[in-house]
Amino acid sequence: MESFYSFPSAVNEVEYCSGTACFVARELDPKRFSMATKQQSRTYCLGKCYEAPSSSEGKSIPRIEARTGTPIVLDNISSGPVTSLGMYRKRNGFKALQKALEMKPAEVVDEIDRSQLRGRGGAGFPTGKKWASVLSQDSSEKYIVVNADEGDPGAYIDRMIMEMDPFKLLEGGMIAGYATGAKNGYIYIRREYPKAIESISGAIKEMQEAGYLGSGIMGSEFSFSFRVVPGRGSYVCGEETSLLRSIEGRRPEVGLRPPYPTEKGLFGKPTVVNNVETLANVPWIINHGAARFSEIGFSKSRGTKAISLNSLFRNPGLYEVEMGTTLEEIVIGIGGGLRSGKLKGIIVGGPIAGIIHPSKFATRMGYEEMKAAGGELGHGGIVAFDESTSIRDLIAHVSSFVAYESCGKCTPCRLGSRAVENIFSGSNKGKQWTRNDYEILSDTLLETSLCGLGGGLGEFLKSASMNYPKEVDACFA
Ligand SMILES: Cc1cc2nc3c(=O)[nH]c(=O)nc-3n(C[C@H](O)[C@H](O)[C@H](O)COP(=O)(O)O)c2cc1C
Ligand code: SF4
Repeated sequence: MESFYSFPSAVNEVEYCSGTACFVARELDPKRFSMATKQQSRTYCLGKCYEAPSSSEGKSIPRIEARTGTPIVLDNISSGPVTSLGMYRKRNGFKALQKALEMKPAEVVDEIDRSQLRGRGGAGFPTGKKWASVLSQDSSEKYIVVNADEGDPGAYIDRMIMEMDPFKLLEGGMIAGYATGAKNGYIYIRREYPKAIESISGAIKEMQEAGYLGSGIMGSEFSFSFRVVPGRGSYVCGEETSLLRSIEGRRPEVGLRPPYPTEKGLFGKPTVVNNVETLANVPWIINHGAARFSEIGFSKSRGTKAISLNSLFRNPGLYEVEMGTTLEEIVIGIGGGLRSGKLKGIIVGGPIAGIIHPSKFATRMGYEEMKAAGGELGHGGIVAFDESTSIRDLIAHVSSFVAYESCGKCTPCRLGSRAVENIFSGSNKGKQWTRNDYEILSDTLLETSLCGLGGGLGEFLKSASMNYPKEVDACFA
């Protein structure tokens, strides 16, 4: 099983990041980026994309701003970190849990359902529906699993929530537990985020000591506990079935669904798997009501979204915006455009989510709308790149990432990603391929991959050829 993980079999003393934000910023500090390529085990990513190319030595924190009239996720963080339980309570902390405990579990689920909150981890599944499914299962043992793997290079949203507002996430997770009948929560945090592991573990300890965890919480009959599980350096472990196997200590290959984790999840029991940002919305919704939340946003994407901008922007940082904000407003209005060079495109929601050409910046940020533009909202990390990165370079980088992270279960993902990497980074530079071969592999990846890693490479290749047809054509004989 050690072979599955890149950690702890090979530990780098100082880690240099190979993520997409670091790759597109390689010319800002070629020496530093070259260190990443020389490491025995690769690191994708350290969540420091605002100072890319980055290493584990970088200690700065990003600019953090709520750019919406109704901050929800970054409301606390934008006025400074919450460093103790006392400080969190002064900022209305645990009022939502108190309120939820006075409601029936089904009423809490209904409130979340009516808010139209959708999962912020990428797939956009309605959170209320997921909770309702777990609540309806007849089982005395159920689990809440917080997906804090934040594997998409380019995103550092969950990292900052965990480091700077840990109690908010824990409160959201506890409300999920009360609403669905789960008494135990697991928080799976990527090992590339040691400070987040420390901050969440410290917050749990403080809550245990103050009686906010354990039995009879806040004078009620509700009991709950949390356990932190550090990841071990595998992108695929962010996929929910793989993540559950990793917590169970099994080889974390992706599993077939159905059954879904809501029916048969952790240790075979009904399980809610939710992303960090998803749960960070929950206390606000309970405090202010579903109606107020669903008034914010647009189309089928309600509420706000935290977005992270990489170092090539004039104003890199973490921002909260209302769903429906245009990419133009984000890239130019908030990000300030590039600090130098000509903007060639952006990658939103992780390297395999697709490339968006500046001609499509009128697109409004929403799950369906981003897909129609040939991308994905994904987790909301935005990586802008300039003309120093060719589309060929980008295809080589992304396919290399997929080849490195593939769990190997599906042949097109295992072999196809390697083939694309060899062709686009090798000396033959794709000349042995025709456009037809490229299209066939993209379709095969999309149609036959068990999970979003292989499928995502297919989508990425398609989006590259849709948005940059001339450059992709030039790669073939
Ligand atoms: C390859 C792959 C990697 C993923 N990585 C993450 C991740 O790092 N964090 C995350 O929250 N979701 C990730 N997901 C999505 C999860 O499978 C799952 O949909 C999510 O945790 C559900 O939470 P949500 O409904 O709150 O978004 C990944 C999915 C795939 C296919
Ligand atoms: S698509 Fe790739 S990462 Fe996903 S299950 Fe198949 S081989 Fe594994």
